[in-house]
Amino acid sequence: MHDFPPFAFSTVAHIVAEPGAAANLGALLRQHFPRARRALFVTDAGFLRTGLVQAPVASVKAAGLACEIYSEVIADPPEKTILDALDVARVAASDIIIGIGGGSSMDVAKLIAVLANSDQALSAIYGIGNVVGQRLPLVQIPTTAGTGSEVTNIAIVTTGATTKMGIVAPQLYADLALLDAELTLGLPPAVTAATGIDAMVHAIEAYTTRHKKNPLSDMLAKQALGLLSANLLHACEHGRDLAARQAMLLGAMLAGQAFSNAPVAAVHALAYPIGGNFHVPHGLSNSLVLPHVLRFNMPVATPLYAELAEVVVPQASGSTEARAEALVIAMEQLAAAAGIERRLQQVGITEQDLDKLADDAMLQTRLLGNNLRHVSRDDARAIYAAAL
Ligand SMILES: NC(=O)c1ccc[n+]([C@@H]2O[C@H](COP(=O)([O-])OP(=O)(O)OC[C@H]3O[C@@H](n4cnc5c(N)ncnc54)[C@H](O)[C@@H]3O)[C@@H](O)[C@H]2O)c1
Ligand SMILES: [Fe+2]
Repeated sequence: MHDFPPFAFSTVAHIVAEPGAAANLGALLRQHFPRARRALFVTDAGFLRTGLVQAPVASVKAAGLACEIYSEVIADPPEKTILDALDVARVAASDIIIGIGGGSSMDVAKLIAVLANSDQALSAIYGIGNVVGQRLPLVQIPTTAGTGSEVTNIAIVTTGATTKMGIVAPQLYADLALLDAELTLGLPPAVTAATGIDAMVHAIEAYTTRHKKNPLSDMLAKQALGLLSANLLHACEHGRDLAARQAMLLGAMLAGQAFSNAPVAAVHALAYPIGGNFHVPHGLSNSLVLPHVLRFNMPVATPLYAELAEVVVPQASGSTEARAEALVIAMEQLAAAAGIERRLQQVGITEQDLDKLADDAMLQTRLLGNNLRHVSRDDARAIYAAAL
């Protein structure tokens, strides 16, 4: 008999997963938001350059809505990006916000939807549960298969030169998430790999989280890992394979649903200082520390890692320890085969930087508290040293 602890689970109410669906966005808006008149698309300059925003914008215009595009989102968005986009939304009197891009664009879209209609300042909503009131209607369209932000209740903002802060609130769940792999066909291999590993980390950390582990997140995490591990290398090597790309988007979303309800832990806590201090993309920062955090957690997480190995390396056999180790090796091999950086030195980090990284990691108390094994400052430094 299994004795499940009590749990709560929330996610986005409407999900459409269909290649090509973004070109029919107008019809979806008419169906779900018949009162919307003025749409604001939130994206970044890199995605705008692909030209892929044009078809959804055209379809929304054809459905009778006015369209504005804010395309100045910067990766790991700083506060200024949010405040600038907020001005655009207010001037245009936008009544529906559409995030289309990676996690950076979707996170900004969430915050615009929350703040455009509100007296609250951005500075007042950092932390957990500090958003009051209702947001504008919000649609999220991911163009990376990574963050899962389209189905999470979290937005991450770069607040200082090197620090990031999170906003966690139920209002950050979108009304509609749309998974259209046609938008991801041109994603470069290195970005595909790093963002895909980010999604895998979401699943692994959700499954092994100290708090809020629950049967729905467990199921989603396993399904996500199966899809992501089976398709990641193929999507890197054959970027225009629509089926592999759609599987990656689905896997990233399932992982997002999992970790939105069973939060991530030390991999993310140790990744953030790398991104903040050295401008390393979020997925790559995670990938660099992942094997070393898994090895650190091994003494307490062996049975759980062995369960995940059944999905990622089904051919693994032997003892629980051997299967758990096979998961770590599989994740290392994935990064190696994808050809992305694997050592901190490759992104410009030296021995002299490890103390600062360890100090910064200790500030990620929300995430470290979710880790199955207590992480001291010395532990964090040793993990960075192992990754050097
Ligand atoms: N809210 C959440 O739940 C959550 C979870 C994890 C991470 N994050 C945040 O998300 C951000 C990272 O998001 P990300 O990894 O998706 O990267 P990103 O949004 O920063 O985009 C990375 C780069 O990829 C380009 N790009 C995106 N889609 C493309 C496409 N289809 N074709 C070509 N180029 C494309 C962009 O122009 C950009 O240069 C960070 O700020 C991180 O903190 C949020
Ligand atoms: Fe992440």
